[in-house]
Amino acid sequence: MSEDARENDPSKTTPIVPQDQGADGASAPPEGPVSVEETEKRLQDATKGGTNIDTLVGRLVIEQGLATQEEVKHCLEIRRSGEEEDESNQSLMHLLVAREYVTNRQLARLREILEAEREGQKIPGYKILGELGAGAMAKVYKAKQLRLNREVAIKVLPKKYSQNVQFIERFYAEGRAAAQLNHPNIVQAFDVDSTGETYFLVMEYVAGRTVHDDIQEHKRYPEAEAIDIVIQVAEALEHAHAKGLIHRDVKPKNIMISREGVVKLADMGLARAVSDKEAAEAEKGKAFGTPYYISPEQIRGEVDIGPPADIYSLGATLYHMVTGSVPYEGKNPSAVMHKHLKGELAAPDHVNPKLSAGISEVIEMMMARSARKRYRGCTDLLVDLRAIKKGELPPIAHTEVMPEADLASLAAAEAGAGGVGEIPTDASSGGERSISDILLSPLFLVLLAALAASLIWNIVTLILR
Ligand SMILES: Nc1ncnc2c1ncn2[C@@H]1O[C@H](COP(=O)(O)OP(=O)(O)O)[C@@H](O)[C@H]1O
Ligand SMILES: [Mg+2]
Repeated sequence: MSEDARENDPSKTTPIVPQDQGADGASAPPEGPVSVEETEKRLQDATKGGTNIDTLVGRLVIEQGLATQEEVKHCLEIRRSGEEEDESNQSLMHLLVAREYVTNRQLARLREILEAEREGQKIPGYKILGELGAGAMAKVYKAKQLRLNREVAIKVLPKKYSQNVQFIERFYAEGRAAAQLNHPNIVQAFDVDSTGETYFLVMEYVAGRTVHDDIQEHKRYPEAEAIDIVIQVAEALEHAHAKGLIHRDVKPKNIMISREGVVKLADMGLARAVSDKEAAEAEKGKAFGTPYYISPEQIRGEVDIGPPADIYSLGATLYHMVTGSVPYEGKNPSAVMHKHLKGELAAPDHVNPKLSAGISEVIEMMMARSARKRYRGCTDLLVDLRAIKKGELPPIAHTEVMPEADLASLAAAEAGAGGVGEIPTDASSGGERSISDILLSPLFLVLLAALAASLIWNIVTLILR
């Protein structure tokens, strides 16, 4: 909960600066560097005590190119000879770190590799170099494709999916469709395949960070920077939509930014293999996840999911990027999803008053509850995004959506639904007052009292006459 509180603290507005990544491009292991003791213990657990740890460590560091054969030999000799008193009873791992052949961080990565091997994730033709991250559905590894000698990212799906024929069919179909795409802003899919019961997707490796990483670190993006990123995602989607592919899982974690600053949309087509609701539910307990960005029609399980669904999710992502808060917050995924269907969206420029009215209008049109009221496609969306980039008003959102959006939100507020959501107050509209407001106004009560007094006076004078 305290994380949520930090999340929603509007006073934290640090500009985004590129994160410093590890020298070899793999992001830091999720738990950060660990002690030599802990790594050794994990290795011991992994081998269940059956292997000599020194032999295992020696093999792995050489295999992974962390230390040379000579360096390992040197350390083993120190150990054996006992020539340096303090070091003679230390393990190979300690010696490698003490001699600075290997860093603690590299050892932590070694641990992940070993764990991956233990999980049986040996993929023929590839050498696993480390774990890049784990989502709700799968783990992503950095690997070397041996035959082509290139670095790739491999998404490995949990074995449970291998039982589901329908899933596998869709996984291959979508993989094939994604492989047809070719766009600088889309993470290129190379291959879909399986080994034993493990299904995996091979794709372009992006050394860099995700928008999610940035939000976690700096909370908010400056408006201009957010627009630049979203324009590139909209261009990626425009390309995919033209080829008939809907992403269905646009969210900060699927938007990567390479070290060169190029935006890359990840997981194109992959979401289709799992039902939208299943995907959203799988994010249970995660601070960031699909339910925060999912479109109402996906929640309703509609079959006909089109480009506006991606536009909604991109709108929710942009909302989060520039306000520092997700559009709808809730105790659990179903509470969040309920708000996507029925909740009142706090206007982005109310949450962050520094935002221009233009970007607020664009976000509101992207996130219109009814798909028909959103942008028809990314070509239209790009017209508006490019206009705000130039400091102009968004021509489509400004003329088309505002009156409708206001009517819709007023209607929603009137319908009540028992919520205490704020009713948008439009200073320019003057507004209409309800009968109960008029009946309770002080002026009306004074007039009523005067009328009663004069009535009594008239009756009294009539009787006395
Ligand atoms: N092509 C890639 N190149 C580099 N890192 C990647 C790539 N794809 C995914 N990742 C990393 O792996 C993490 C997990 O990805 P994924 O399983 O798709 O889950 P999610 O998208 O929910 O984070 C991502 O957050 C990202 O940091
Ligand atoms: Mg992903």
